[in-house]
Amino acid sequence: MKSERLKGDVAVVTGAASGIDRAVALELARHGAVVACADLNAEGNALTVKEIVEAGGEAFPVHIDISDSASVKQAFADVYEKTGKISILINGAAIARFTQLPECTDEEWDLVMNINLTGAFRCLREAYPYMKESGGRVVQISSTSGKSGGSWAGAHYVASKAGLIGLTKYAAGYFAKDGIRVNAICPGATETPLTDQGESTEATIAAMVSNVPLGRIAQPEDVAGAVMYLVSEESSYVTGITVDVAGGRYMYNN
Ligand SMILES: NC(=O)c1ccc[n+]([C@@H]2O[C@H](COP(=O)([O-])OP(=O)(O)OC[C@H]3O[C@@H](n4cnc5c(N)ncnc54)[C@H](O)[C@@H]3O)[C@@H](O)[C@H]2O)c1
Repeated sequence: MKSERLKGDVAVVTGAASGIDRAVALELARHGAVVACADLNAEGNALTVKEIVEAGGEAFPVHIDISDSASVKQAFADVYEKTGKISILINGAAIARFTQLPECTDEEWDLVMNINLTGAFRCLREAYPYMKESGGRVVQISSTSGKSGGSWAGAHYVASKAGLIGLTKYAAGYFAKDGIRVNAICPGATETPLTDQGESTEATIAAMVSNVPLGRIAQPEDVAGAVMYLVSEESSYVTGITVDVAGGRYMYNN
């Protein structure tokens, strides 16, 4: 255990079975939060829970399919029934698709938006009544592509991540009266199973890194550190912002 800064908190982390969200779940647990690892990948989710528990933290798995309203409603009800509290929500679960706009079908557009953007909306909606009781913090995992565009992923992915920033700003304003802070993180290219898909060959990664002043791709733990700041007391006057975790990629001088 690194600290007890999140002792008394119950965190729902969507996407906790893999990559960035897995690292976030581990980090929140290391600081004392009880973590509900929420994912549709039961096997990966169980491994994240096992790792947290073996390290002395508290966690349990929750099945959630964020593309399905009934599943999301049930998942949040289950967490609340088990713990009596939900004070942190990390909206991390997402998919990437790489079809470029001219070839993208309505079905694929809807699939990506339904998971990446509408899924986060569903989780916010279901978490809100529970978070209202105790105040809370929400972190949405957007992407630098939601700010800069770029064609690494498709238009649907970019638009979903830009939409998540808008949703963050709306929710930060609307939830402020309830003592709930809502912020977003925009990771740059991060080494996870998601970046192993599509055009992410070694050459593509090398090209991405060549634009990063800090000279490397991000690790999931880099993102988890920024999430930790946004859910902790240290950021108690911070809401409605986006934090780039991108190695300085978007400075004006490069
Ligand atoms: N890896 C990157 O380079 C990068 C960069 C910027 C932003 N991001 C964002 O970070 C977040 C995590 O990405 P990652 O790279 O760790 O991806 P990942 O593929 O490793 O993990 C995503 C997780 O989401 C889960 N998931 C997918 N659809 C779901 C659904 N319908 N319901 C519930 N769970 C579902 C998957 O099972 C998986 O465990 C995503 O929001 C992604 O867009 C990633």
